[in-house]
Amino acid sequence: MRRPHAFIRLALSVVLLLGLAACKEEAAQASPLSDAQRAESLRPASAELRARYERSCAACHTSIDAKAPLTGAIAQWQPRLDKGMDTLVKHAMEGFNAMPPKGLCADCSADDMRALIGFMSQGKDNNQ
Ligand code: HEC
Repeated sequence: MRRPHAFIRLALSVVLLLGLAACKEEAAQASPLSDAQRAESLRPASAELRARYERSCAACHTSIDAKAPLTGAIAQWQPRLDKGMDTLVKHAMEGFNAMPPKGLCADCSADDMRALIGFMSQGKDNNQ
């Protein structure tokens, strides 16, 4: 499993660089950078879900370069949610375009996917 780790490191560096750039630019309102910063700051409340999120979904869903809907960017998630949660869980399990099967989370169940999608689309879990 060398490649996913390398990818996650790369994605995290991109997020870090974006963060640094944002500091210099003094945050224009509602810019993609502030969406990325918010995505980077959010975590699921449950420790188990948080661990899964941090080692899989977060690599892409906090990076504007990955072209994935950003965590907590509710407007980006709405057209996805309109497809129905069952479809989103199916796409997360099986993969969807550049979204890899199970989002590279080998031990995530369909229920984990449902909870992770709920968290990412709302920016909080149901427990928060
Ligand atoms: C390697 C990058 C990557 C990882 C890791 C990743 N995603 Fe994604 N995800 C994407 C991209 C890119 C898209 C947008 C795909 C598109 O619409 O073409 C996406 C889209 C989605 C969608 C929307 C699917 C739809 O039908 O519109 C869901 C749901 C989703 N991801 C869930 C997850 C979950 C849950 C995790 C963690 C377990 C995860 N993703 C991890 C890249 C990733």
